[in-house]
Amino acid sequence: MDALLFLFCVFTFQSSIIKVSYATKCDDAGPEIHYPFQIKSQQQGHEANPGFEVLCKDNITFIHFPSYGDLAVNSISYDTKNIHLLDPKNCAYRVFLNLNLSLTPFHYFHVLKNYTYLKCSTSLPHPFVEVPCLSASTHHVYTVDPALPVPSSCQGIKTVPIPFAYSPYLSDNRLGLRLTWDSEDAETRNRTRGSHTSLNIVIGISMCVLVMAMFIISISIKVGEVTRNRQQKEEQLLKSFTDF
Ligand SMILES: *[C@@H]1O[C@H](CO)[C@@H](O)[C@H](O)[C@H]1NC(C)=O
Ligand SMILES: *[C@@H]1O[C@H](CO)[C@@H](O)[C@H](O)[C@H]1NC(C)=O
Ligand SMILES: *[C@@H]1O[C@H](CO)[C@@H](O)[C@H](O)[C@H]1NC(C)=O
Ligand SMILES: *[C@@H]1O[C@H](CO)[C@@H](O)[C@H](O)[C@H]1NC(C)=O
Repeated sequence: MDALLFLFCVFTFQSSIIKVSYATKCDDAGPEIHYPFQIKSQQQGHEANPGFEVLCKDNITFIHFPSYGDLAVNSISYDTKNIHLLDPKNCAYRVFLNLNLSLTPFHYFHVLKNYTYLKCSTSLPHPFVEVPCLSASTHHVYTVDPALPVPSSCQGIKTVPIPFAYSPYLSDNRLGLRLTWDSEDAETRNRTRGSHTSLNIVIGISMCVLVMAMFIISISIKVGEVTRNRQQKEEQLLKSFTDF
């Protein structure tokens, strides 16, 4: 009985320390989703990490950015904190133009440089290269150094810090939509998680103390019985002597 209680105690203590972490996927070929990321449909009772919720749509992993919309998650490297995203509309330079990461836990993985998006009514000569997915027959969009004077046929749309100016050699799909997440945020969350773990340890220790107390009480009862038995025997012995 005591051994059983002791085993129960050890088991409780261990399971409170070893927290089972769930890894899931939207698809067999998709990236593994685990802390700090979480699939949105799986509530599992504990609070989601704001900004780290991903959703599964048609077996594709998506992450939602309020400033842009849904971006597909191509891969996540948890070691280097690198999330590689793809634009479902296949226009990374539209994403760069619109994505505002200021209220998210993310920032660009690559070093940024300011570029001005120019919208021109006529094509600019070489070496300017228009961004195909933002251009049409009536307008031509370029990403240029903000220090450059704006050509007369163009107007500046916006100057934004982005990883690269457009180059036909950097295919929209493979290129730079890589984000990283704040280690500071992760640390803060780590501390919160750490306090959950310490609460579990406290519960575990309390359980152990309780079990140990029960164990000691049961021993002292037995010792008491033994002592009483011995006293009775001694009394009987003494009695037999006096009778004698
Ligand atoms: C998602 O994956 C499952 C299992 O691999 C498959 O049966 C289903 O057709 C897929 N759905 C889509 C929309 O690709
Ligand atoms: C990004 O969003 C923040 C907060 O909503 C806002 O203050 C900031 O001006 C935005 N930045 C750009 C470049 O739009
Ligand atoms: C881009 O320009 C803004 C405004 O001039 C400046 O505050 C910011 O530091 C620049 N960003 C980069 C990455 O150079
Ligand atoms: C999170 O906490 C563990 C131990 O509590 C520590 O080893 C790890 O370095 C922490 N991670 C961060 C990002 O602070």
